[in-house]
Amino acid sequence: AKTPVKVTVTGAAGQIGYALLFRIASGQLLGSDVPVKLSLLEIPQAIKAAEGTAMELDDCAFPLLRGIEITDDPNVAFDGANVALLVGARPRTKGMERRDLLEANGGIFGPQGRAINEHAADDIRVLVVGNPANTNALIARSAAPDVPAERFTAMTRLDHNRALSQLAQKLDVPVSDIKKMTIWGNHSATQYPDLYHAEVGGKIAAELVDEAWLRDTFIPTVAKRGAAIIEARGASSAASAANAAIDHVYDWVNGTPEGDWTSAAVVSDGSYGVPEGLVSSFPVVSRNGRWEIVQGLEINEFSRERIDASVRELEEERDAVRALGLI
Ligand code: NAI
Repeated sequence: AKTPVKVTVTGAAGQIGYALLFRIASGQLLGSDVPVKLSLLEIPQAIKAAEGTAMELDDCAFPLLRGIEITDDPNVAFDGANVALLVGARPRTKGMERRDLLEANGGIFGPQGRAINEHAADDIRVLVVGNPANTNALIARSAAPDVPAERFTAMTRLDHNRALSQLAQKLDVPVSDIKKMTIWGNHSATQYPDLYHAEVGGKIAAELVDEAWLRDTFIPTVAKRGAAIIEARGASSAASAANAAIDHVYDWVNGTPEGDWTSAAVVSDGSYGVPEGLVSSFPVVSRNGRWEIVQGLEINEFSRERIDASVRELEEERDAVRALGLI
């Protein structure tokens, strides 16, 4: 029998947590033959709600679920963790300055990074979902110097999936016909969804749509989709965010298909002029359990400007957390 994989979910009692935990427990995160133990990390006020969710998890009688732990102590939650999904974060409230937002999140992701450094399993893989996701990942990573940098990632898979879906609808093709979509940069409104390398039936996607649609409809629709969901639903994306987290970790562990790639924010090695150390979204493949940045793509002027603008925003966030002593 396989030993269970310990999956720690922070913010487990939140919206995304509720959409995520049942799918993890059913085997969709790692594979339908991999038993899991769940660890739910919450703040004290939300422990009771997490206990309620755990009761429902019990009531699903998932064959792969081998235990649930609930705690408000990161040192307990990350002890022996193999996968950490960092979902809980401090949201931006009305009138909040970026500095205050980054500082509040530093107070969450710094200690969690340290706990991961001290207690997680050697093969720990971290996905940061909580916003500002890229910079929260940077903070956690710099608090975990003993963990290889490549194990810290932030989620742009939701943006990637949104881009696939928008393009599929525009061209009236199934999503599965589209390969090599890329989200570059920050998980924010500056992100750049790139159609100059995406392929549809072997043709370059940018050549199948007019430039005005690409520039004035496609890019802003993908980049501002989160706000549009809030406007329509009265709450932020939850099931789609959980779905993207599942996709990200599943591919990380099990590999991406031949002839395709996906998008993930990983610690930059300097590829494509993105300063080393920034957690930025790239086209990536997963091989042997590791993300690799797809190399050698030609970047045209249109793309260069947009990648640079998003990377500049990441640099500003990095400089701000550095000035606050958070990294
Ligand atoms: P939510 O507010 O429903 O849940 C967040 C949960 O985190 C709450 O239960 C809260 O008690 C918990 N929490 C806060 N501080 C914590 C700490 N220090 N340790 C453990 N738990 C803590 O929020 P929701 O909708 O689940 O979203 C979570 C995060 O995901 C937000 O930051 C949101 O902006 C982000 N997000 C990111 C997306 C992406 O594509 N990267 C997409 C959608 C949401």
